[in-house]
Amino acid sequence: MTSKEFTVEHRERLIQELIDFLKLKSVSADPNYSNEVKLTAEFVKKSIEKAGMQSVEICPTNGHPIVYAEHIIDETLPTVLVYGHYDVQPADPIELWESDPFEPVVKTTKLHPEGAIFARGACDDKGQVYMHVKAIEYMIANNCLPCNIKLMIEGEEEIGSSNLGIFVKENAERLKADVILVSDTSIIANDIPSITVGLRGLSYVEIEVTGPNRDLHSGVYGGAVANPINILAKMIASLQDEDNKITIPGFYDDVLEVSPEDRALMSKAPFDLGAYKKDLNIDDVSGEKGFSTNERTSIRPTLDVNGIWGGYIGKGAKTVLPSKAYAKISMRLVPNQNWEKITTLFKNHFESIAPKGVKVKVTPHHGGQGSLVETNFPAYQAASKAMEETYGKMPIPVRSGGSIPIIALFEEILGLKSVLFGFGLNSDLIHSPNEHYGLFNYFKGIETIPLFYKYYSESN
Ligand code: BES
Ligand code: MN
Ligand code: MN
Repeated sequence: MTSKEFTVEHRERLIQELIDFLKLKSVSADPNYSNEVKLTAEFVKKSIEKAGMQSVEICPTNGHPIVYAEHIIDETLPTVLVYGHYDVQPADPIELWESDPFEPVVKTTKLHPEGAIFARGACDDKGQVYMHVKAIEYMIANNCLPCNIKLMIEGEEEIGSSNLGIFVKENAERLKADVILVSDTSIIANDIPSITVGLRGLSYVEIEVTGPNRDLHSGVYGGAVANPINILAKMIASLQDEDNKITIPGFYDDVLEVSPEDRALMSKAPFDLGAYKKDLNIDDVSGEKGFSTNERTSIRPTLDVNGIWGGYIGKGAKTVLPSKAYAKISMRLVPNQNWEKITTLFKNHFESIAPKGVKVKVTPHHGGQGSLVETNFPAYQAASKAMEETYGKMPIPVRSGGSIPIIALFEEILGLKSVLFGFGLNSDLIHSPNEHYGLFNYFKGIETIPLFYKYYSESN
């Protein structure tokens, strides 16, 4: 039986099992869900046992557990270490979901005429993790697994993977492999396959601006006392100039400029600006001067406010001069920018521009390094060949704007390169209400992954 035949024969079961996985509320960020996260790890373990892998265990950490499995058929064969995450983002704002985020339903959309499963985590990353479990099940059942497999599915990717970092350091020997295989990224479109060759890094900080020691009457005191929200807005606005360049001194120092030749090559990847704007209902795009939309979201660093609050935000009006203002800011970084260095640059700069009359505190959150993947190594070539066979087209290498910080650590600690073999679409609303994953994408993944193993083993 081919992997394609497997997806046809077991179609309904493969959908139902993923639905059962998606029902579990594995929200890693919210301590209220920690028991449900644990149950999800157990579900993952059971499904891996069912797939026929030799050993599976749940490894406790100081946070959520890691599910780790091995299937060693022959020490002399290459070993693939598969990584993914079973945790999901919080579902809120819940009122914007058309169906319950943890009651998966299949519906058709314009981009998914064959149907898509709507649920939190459908694409990021449960659906993509489950493709691997099912591909492994297929290979073991049909006696066509040509490599050893180590499988590591964590529960804290969406909150920074800090315990996984520790686990990898402590288990470097056990995790020995030849390459890492990850499905947690996207393709350009269902008829334009691509493989991700770059991820951005991240620095995430929280800001607190304090003015007077208490909320004040905005008439009695207004005009004479610094308003922390006004100040915070001004300070944030000053972080970008009229060309949308970031003004923090030293911010661009380590950015690797991409050569004109490579930029010309990148610009060949299909992109429809009109459709992009229409999809987002915006009349124009906006970003760093001198760069295209695709460049702005891949080879250039950014600075964005993710949330800002303070003062009165209830119904109606309350006249108040607030004591405090807050913001959460993320900076997406490009490979070679060091996230800890950028965090320090930000903190020093932001505190230095604080005017008299307020106190400014910058607290770093998590962060991580970006990564670049080359295309001229056997595992990338195997992935490319596998996709070419199942999509009928050679995949285009593309740099993505998202971050998976553990990828850089895999390289640093284990000395291993990764193949970013994602099958989602950027329009699948990951992290947003109504996240979904196309059935076409799900089955295409299960069909394609075994071919990766085949071509990878042949190249060794
Ligand atoms: N799977 C995403 C990253 C991603 C999405 C890469 C789309 C490429 C295309 C991952 O789960 C994620 O959301 N990462 C976080 C970073 C993390 C440190 C919280 C991100 O990019 O915001
Ligand atoms: Mn993910
Ligand atoms: Mn995510």
